[in-house]
Amino acid sequence: MKFSIKPSEPSKLDADVLILYVWEDGLISYNQFPDSLNSVIKEAAEREDFKGREKQYLVISTRGLISSYKLLLCGIGKKEEYDISRLYQSLAQSVKKSEEYKPVKIAIAVHDDWLKLFEAKRCVQSIIETVRLSTYLFDKYKGDEEKKNRRPIEEVYIAVSPPKIAQAEEGVDAGTIIADAVCFARDLVNEPAEVTSPQYLADTAIDIAKNSDGQIKVKILEIEEMKKLGMNAFLGVAKGSHKPPKFIHLSYKPSRPAKKIILIGKGITFDTGGLSLKGSEHMETMKQDMAGGAAVLAIFSQITSLSVKAEVIGIIAACENMPGGNALKPGDILKAMNGKTIEVLNTDAEGRLTLADAISYASLKDKPDEIIDIATLCGACVVALGTDITGMWGNDEKLLGNIEKYARLSGEHIWRMPLFKDYMDLMKSSIADIKNVQMGRYGGAITGALFLSEFVEKIPWVHLDIAGPAYTEKDSPLIPHGGTGFGVRLLLEYIVSL
Ligand code: BES
Ligand code: ZN
Ligand code: ZN
Repeated sequence: MKFSIKPSEPSKLDADVLILYVWEDGLISYNQFPDSLNSVIKEAAEREDFKGREKQYLVISTRGLISSYKLLLCGIGKKEEYDISRLYQSLAQSVKKSEEYKPVKIAIAVHDDWLKLFEAKRCVQSIIETVRLSTYLFDKYKGDEEKKNRRPIEEVYIAVSPPKIAQAEEGVDAGTIIADAVCFARDLVNEPAEVTSPQYLADTAIDIAKNSDGQIKVKILEIEEMKKLGMNAFLGVAKGSHKPPKFIHLSYKPSRPAKKIILIGKGITFDTGGLSLKGSEHMETMKQDMAGGAAVLAIFSQITSLSVKAEVIGIIAACENMPGGNALKPGDILKAMNGKTIEVLNTDAEGRLTLADAISYASLKDKPDEIIDIATLCGACVVALGTDITGMWGNDEKLLGNIEKYARLSGEHIWRMPLFKDYMDLMKSSIADIKNVQMGRYGGAITGALFLSEFVEKIPWVHLDIAGPAYTEKDSPLIPHGGTGFGVRLLLEYIVSL
């Protein structure tokens, strides 16, 4: 898909569909259009009661009155309520609507008011991201017949007022890099778990390092080294599968970095629940349980293109959670790398066990300034916040505030949750330091986060529980069915800001 910035008036662009955006009760008459076309628009708007409300569309055949074949007016609601997240939504909705007319070329006219609300770079970046993400397809396993009948959008013109062209071009570069990263994460999650084994994730990390001109280093720890380091919590989860676990460690170090941050992604390549076996309905989508790891790999796949100034380390403790003959049993006790003992009462709460060792390793060996983990950790988080919002916990006000800021900027939804220490009592074990599941049924996402906090040394830390937003079973304009790539945009924006 090719994107080009056009300083010319939208009326001169020869697209199959030209998209214009209209505020609720806003103007639908354009100086650059001939009066005859403005009259057609006016009449159609009256007949179809088009007022510019959100998700209202008006489609006009231009009959040669301007260069584009069709005109799509897209309602974007009230100006006072507009924000970045609405910008992403309205762009995605308009692209999806335009696809109904099978265009090969579309033109998007950047609303002049958008340039007052957001920076030009941000507007254009959002356009690139949205067009790429809303038209994303994972069809490598589909037959040729279906693929032959598709007519994808090949070219996108973006009409911007001339003084903003340079900034707009920067937006194209940033948007392309970020969209590439999100699609990279989506592809990894969408692949069947039989493909994305721990070995596959390790090979992906090795490839990323190989293609980085030496800017990224990778090390893969094997079982023997993990044993030496005392990663028994991670090893405990892994031993139910015949596929060997891989502890993936990526590092990117620019010259004189001001900060060292670690991104840890949960990397359960398939979560059956282990001996505490999941029901089939809950297991169906568990190839998604490495979505946090996929986000970390995706970030590293683009980190060198974004001139990131901080030192960034990526860690993924990758394994399967299977109920094999050697599997971990409820009642077993594991000693994590930081010396704490864990009574495992439910083998389906495995993510926290693998993360216990990943976080211990990060804290004790790499000694960073900040740790951010991203994990499909708890079904309870989905109960609390629904499928579209990520839960966030942490121990440092400044880091929490920053993550909120960049989430807002990237249009990804997160919500701060309490690290309520009193609930730690629910995790008390009579024979070990801590249990891996709580007593009782309520507040499960909080106790999940509290469990992880036991393995963080005195370092600013944030935990993102993406169990809801990592994967979707319904198509929405910005996110088609499957892996969503959640977190990639937010975390890339954050590390670029450092
Ligand atoms: N991978 C799951 C959490 C999950 C649920 C991710 C839904 C994505 C969508 C995790 O390993 C798990 O099974 N958690 C248990 C924890 C419980 C046993 C304390 C859960 O949520 O039921
Ligand atoms: Zn589980
Ligand atoms: Zn899991």
